[in-house]
Amino acid sequence: MKQIVLRQALTAKPVGADFAMVEAERPACPEGGVVARVVHLSLDPYVGARLRGRHMGEAPPRPGIDPIPGAVVAQVIESRSAGLAPGDWVHAMDGAWAEEVALKAARKLDAALAPLAAHAGVLGMPGLTAWAGMTQLAQVGPGDVVLVDAAAGPVGGTVGQIARIKGAKRVVGIAGGAEKCRLVTDVYGFDACIDYKAEGWREALAAALPKPVTVLFENVSVAMLTVGMGHLAAYGRVVLCGLADQYQADGAPAAIPAGLIIGKRAKLLGLVVYDFYPAWDGYVQEAAGWLKEGRLTIAEDRVEGLAAAPALFERLMNGANVGKAVVTVSPE
Ligand SMILES: NC(=O)c1ccc[n+]([C@@H]2O[C@H](COP(=O)([O-])OP(=O)(O)OC[C@H]3O[C@@H](n4cnc5c(N)ncnc54)[C@H](OP(=O)(O)O)[C@@H]3O)[C@@H](O)[C@H]2O)c1
Repeated sequence: MKQIVLRQALTAKPVGADFAMVEAERPACPEGGVVARVVHLSLDPYVGARLRGRHMGEAPPRPGIDPIPGAVVAQVIESRSAGLAPGDWVHAMDGAWAEEVALKAARKLDAALAPLAAHAGVLGMPGLTAWAGMTQLAQVGPGDVVLVDAAAGPVGGTVGQIARIKGAKRVVGIAGGAEKCRLVTDVYGFDACIDYKAEGWREALAAALPKPVTVLFENVSVAMLTVGMGHLAAYGRVVLCGLADQYQADGAPAAIPAGLIIGKRAKLLGLVVYDFYPAWDGYVQEAAGWLKEGRLTIAEDRVEGLAAAPALFERLMNGANVGKAVVTVSPE
């Protein structure tokens, strides 16, 4: 079977040419786990940090040896797990850029509940992250004014839609480019989206926020956090989810706006989605209902075939993806 590895250890932002597709032995079935055929592979920003040893202390894959890590939607081929049989559909975070993977922590999926690829995005780790930040940490509800950046992506887009479902009064996104902003307003249904690459965007943001922000969800950078906090209401909640602009940056990290935090009496809520994995199956049940009702939707930036993964990953590393980055590795 085929898998994708690093050609060499990375010292800079990954580009497509850093990866090579190689032949590998089919993986052995782990005790208590499964071997599965990968159908959809999720590409996520944290993998870029992980490849350079910058994610939660996790080791980068060994060049030429280990397949690139990645979350997968897959079908069980062989099982040594009591709860899983060949033919079952699963989602797992311990997958890889490969045609077949050995999984120790696969969650069984109900294929009738939603399209399988949705488990890479809106029902997958990005969706769970958005749900956790909005419902468990910020506890968004009626009357809230929500601001989120990277709003066209699977986390940001789901943040705004869940805010709306939970009764938020106004939902505003920030995204890079007119195409992304159209997605945010026309498909996700945000009240407004500000293109930060356009001239006059700070004024446009102020105009889109006649009332101060009560929930700020940060996905991108301390610079953007500082802009958002300028619009925060006193006692506002700030979910610190990600720093996509900083994972590949070198040099000292930017200083967080301590004066603003004090002045706004802000409540800072750090989010690590791992804490919410026990709630995942419950989230999937609830969110699949929202999908069926058309209250939740997600756009995909999808490519076909494992060989297409490096080029899409390079686009993700440059913020050029429009929607959830997914690779369909083999037909369902
Ligand atoms: N805390 C957690 O447990 C957790 C879990 C999942 C995800 N996250 C974080 O949530 C954030 C959003 O994740 P996602 O999966 O929804 O990603 P995504 O939105 O598909 O991609 C990241 C987006 O960040 C923006 N961005 C701005 N500057 C960038 C740069 N220099 N390089 C790359 N991207 C840049 C881009 O959107 P624009 O063009 O609109 O700026 C890009 O599309 C990420 O920071 C991710 O790490 C955190």
